[in-house]
Amino acid sequence: MDWIDLRSDTVTKPTDEMRAAMASAEVGDDVYQDDPTTNRLEARAAEVLGFEAALFITSGTMGNQLSLMCNTRRGDEVIAGAQCHIVMHEVGAAAVLSGANIRQIPYENGLPVPARIAAAIRPDDIHEPRTTLICMENALANGRVVPIETMREIYEIAHAHDIPVHLDGARIFNAAASLGVDVKELTRYTDTLTCCLSKGLCAPVGAIFAGTRETVERARRYRKMLGGGMRQNGILAAAGLIALEKMPERLHVDHENARYLATLLQEIPGISVNPEEVEINMVFCTIDRPLPVLESLPERMKEYGMLIGGYEEGQFRFVTNHGVTRANVEQLAKALREVLAEA
Ligand SMILES: Cc1ncc(COP(=O)(O)O)c(C=O)c1O
Repeated sequence: MDWIDLRSDTVTKPTDEMRAAMASAEVGDDVYQDDPTTNRLEARAAEVLGFEAALFITSGTMGNQLSLMCNTRRGDEVIAGAQCHIVMHEVGAAAVLSGANIRQIPYENGLPVPARIAAAIRPDDIHEPRTTLICMENALANGRVVPIETMREIYEIAHAHDIPVHLDGARIFNAAASLGVDVKELTRYTDTLTCCLSKGLCAPVGAIFAGTRETVERARRYRKMLGGGMRQNGILAAAGLIALEKMPERLHVDHENARYLATLLQEIPGISVNPEEVEINMVFCTIDRPLPVLESLPERMKEYGMLIGGYEEGQFRFVTNHGVTRANVEQLAKALREVLAEA
């Protein structure tokens, strides 16, 4: 069955062009650094994202953890948003892999506040951990986009204290599309970057870690340590190249569909959503119904051929993606209206 799948943009399948490129990809052994397609992807990623060097890695999680491993020593403190992916969804890896503490800074109105980050930087005091990394995220996991000015301010605060910045840019191309700027306008305000190829950009596997040549070479060793030294991964890099070159330009379609969905949901009794807050491909809403109705909603939606995420932290999240059309968005709104009318 062909589901209409709004659980995430990670569900996107490789395009026909990607599958053809994968089938004919020239490959070598990437641990020996002689896989030509991977080398091409890494060189091109460095260029497009505005860094000296880039490394093809298995996942966004690996990229974030590589930055922590490169930039911290045991006992150091990393500043990160309390709701960010590194804190919420990386299985506590910072403690295991880097032995780092994370100082979690709450957002205000869904966005990071430079002054709060500045206040969290530790003084040079023998009793306190050293602050050795500031982690940013853009787009944020809550669907918001951090303005360029805020990124610049945080970067300047960090550098005034000789602290590097890492940017979890799993959806950096969504952020750039939303702001209407070249991605380099955002990546200039970070020292290392994670960028996912396998979300809205539709590659089947993979992400990019980028930074200075020196940091990327250290990350290459850590990637090997984590079991991420791949061999004929040109097959994956071939899809990654298309993700990088061709897919960012269509992300605005997902954003428009998300905004359209929010306007449709707004009309449904019991649903609260603010279309003005839809900045990328994610729509968050609350639904005024008893808990059992909310918990059973994903199962009910399957009857309409639709997959949606579960009720989490009081909200539902719908994510538009390459496999979701404007007509599908209308179908979702219609199905929700019907189900909620009965409940
Ligand atoms: C903001 C953010 N960062 C990092 C990741 C991790 O990516 P991966 O699933 O490839 O490990 C995700 C995944 O959804 C994400 O949303």
